[in-house]
Amino acid sequence: MHITLNNGVTMPAIGLGVFQSAPEQTTAAVEAALATGYRHIDTAAAYGNEREVGAGIRSSGLDRSEVFIETKVWVSDYGYDQTLHAWDKATGKLGVDYLDLLILHQPAPDRFEKTIAAHKALERLLADGRVRAIGVSNFMPHHLKELLGSTDVVPAVNQIELHPYFTQPDVQAADTRHGILTQAWSPIGGITFYPGWGQDRRNVMEDPAIAAIAQAHGKSPAQVMLRWHLQQGRSAIPKSTNPARIAENFDIFNFELSTDELAALDTLDTGTRNGPDPDEAREERFAMAIPEA
Ligand SMILES: NC(=O)c1ccc[n+]([C@@H]2O[C@H](COP(=O)([O-])OP(=O)(O)OC[C@H]3O[C@@H](n4cnc5c(N)ncnc54)[C@H](OP(=O)(O)O)[C@@H]3O)[C@@H](O)[C@H]2O)c1
Repeated sequence: MHITLNNGVTMPAIGLGVFQSAPEQTTAAVEAALATGYRHIDTAAAYGNEREVGAGIRSSGLDRSEVFIETKVWVSDYGYDQTLHAWDKATGKLGVDYLDLLILHQPAPDRFEKTIAAHKALERLLADGRVRAIGVSNFMPHHLKELLGSTDVVPAVNQIELHPYFTQPDVQAADTRHGILTQAWSPIGGITFYPGWGQDRRNVMEDPAIAAIAQAHGKSPAQVMLRWHLQQGRSAIPKSTNPARIAENFDIFNFELSTDELAALDTLDTGTRNGPDPDEAREERFAMAIPEA
């Protein structure tokens, strides 16, 4: 299933995420995903595994043009010239000569002028045909407003934390208003159960309402959540390094959730973010330098 972005480029709705996929596991995960039928991989300069993603794509035997490659510019590379050079680093590691989608990993709230300059560099890369689409991640409505007021190209995608316990309806509405596709990170709630990411979180994978819907369809909770994203028009990029779960997360095109089931999933929103607050300025992020290719 494909989604058409606001510049006419089509993108497979489901992609493989590789955040926290160790470099030595990443190539095999990408190979398994592509063998299963995935044609979209979501990586990032900050994940430290773009090289291994590129290796997995090459060893799949698929043509480069058959795989939609999405990656992200890290905040320490924001600024016009720095972001142009971030493209050199990303393509050098991936071993490709263009990217399908290049997005800004998050706003830099305390130096938004650098975020805007980074977006202007994305616009240059787009005009030069070095990326097919550009976008943002973790942008709240006020970040979008400020960005759109100072730039020329509306981002094609906004990738945000989005699972049944945190649905950010205000951000989704702002994206829709501007013609931006919402893409869900932690689409099956990884951020609600990853070890070391905070106490007292409820694991969305263990939610009884989701379990009941899953049972009714003979599907797993992860499959129900991914189907919910698809039926509500979102892109989702579930992460796994386990071949059986990679396949499970792609086996979602043969069932349909009812309107009531979709509504039941919507009521689970707690309004509480599990991941980092995009408005919090954190100096240590700028200290993390992205290595050259
Ligand atoms: N833009 C951002 O700031 C941002 C932030 C976070 C993530 N992301 C992107 O979004 C992607 C997905 O988000 P995420 O990695 O945070 O979380 P996620 O995809 O919601 O969940 C991944 C977790 O679920 C497990 N898992 C996968 N499939 C499963 C299944 N069918 N049943 C049970 N468990 C399953 C995985 O373990 P195994 O690997 O062992 O299967 C892993 O622990 C990332 O990889 C990354 O590409 C972006």
